[in-house]
Amino acid sequence: MSVLNTRFTETFGVEHPVVQGGMQWVGRAELAAAVSEAGGLGLITALTQPTPADLVREIEKARKLTDKPFGVNLTILPAINPPPYDEYRRAIVDSGIRIVETAGSNPEPHMGLFKEHGVKVLHKCTSVRHALKAQRIGVDAVSIDGFECAGHPGEDDIPGLVLIPAAADRLTIPFIASGGFGDARGLVAALALGADGINMGSRFMCTVESPISPAVKQAIVDADERDTELIFRPLRNTARVAKNSVSTEVVRILASGGEFADVRDLVAGARGRLVYENGDVEAGVWSVGMVQGIIHDVPTAGDLVRRIVDEAASIIRGRLTGLLAPAKVSP
Ligand SMILES: Cc1cc2nc3c(=O)[nH]c(=O)nc-3n(C[C@H](O)[C@H](O)[C@H](O)COP(=O)(O)O)c2cc1C
Repeated sequence: MSVLNTRFTETFGVEHPVVQGGMQWVGRAELAAAVSEAGGLGLITALTQPTPADLVREIEKARKLTDKPFGVNLTILPAINPPPYDEYRRAIVDSGIRIVETAGSNPEPHMGLFKEHGVKVLHKCTSVRHALKAQRIGVDAVSIDGFECAGHPGEDDIPGLVLIPAAADRLTIPFIASGGFGDARGLVAALALGADGINMGSRFMCTVESPISPAVKQAIVDADERDTELIFRPLRNTARVAKNSVSTEVVRILASGGEFADVRDLVAGARGRLVYENGDVEAGVWSVGMVQGIIHDVPTAGDLVRRIVDEAASIIRGRLTGLLAPAKVSP
């Protein structure tokens, strides 16, 4: 088994610079534990658990599956009836979790408690300016999502090929690249662009331990890189989802002047959840990224992590080193 040491692996005490990002309805104990057991960093998604007490139980479940470090994703989104973020945050630290991925908005209100308890904070954002702000308020590392990503890519539309080196030029703390990563080639590219590792969502959705219907995993394998759609663009809350009859209807309604209220039922979280539970990929909107175009199988999460790291080492030692032609000696 190869090892790639980066500032990320050193800061977070994991073997491999490969993270399984927070995923609503997908990031449960089995998946997070499988990723961590293989030496990556698995994350349980806090808000998938209906209450903070359920989150505590989910963390205990993961502890039974691995002794290695895993973390919790806390996604902080503006909402009319927000979940009890303070209670989730308290449940996280009281459970002894020492790695948290924050996302969705500025993590500043949560930093005090996390730092008091020695929690390492990995903040996920979609622009260099937000990454710099997170660095200023004291996060330990940043995960930066390019335009390719599943979920919320922000409104700047900067793909990873520019966003990652732009972040590398400005940040001094470790950071990982996210959005569009699915294999060893992506990991090597991310390292070459200046990142300290990769974060993946869609690729880990398509693993044995991912707790969603096999029909959804097969739909991802069958889809290509064009089969996603951006919804909520006119509302400036863009989300990349699988392209289906529901997403296309949402785009049509909003493009013709509709408001959120006109699509509320179509985009309801409960409908998206049904997709994952029943495998009916037309039941609602569901998140997946462009990277589905290079997802061709459903391995265990552990095999996936090992494959990515081993193949990355082979690419570095083999193909890339082989490109270094000996200098021509002039006569
Ligand atoms: C099904 C699904 C659900 C997601 N839910 C969340 C979430 O609740 N919070 C969050 O911060 N990111 C969420 N994400 C984004 C991922 O953590 C990650 O940033 C993104 O998937 C990276 O892009 P990729 O899919 O191309 O790897 C989700 C992604 C997927 C595929």
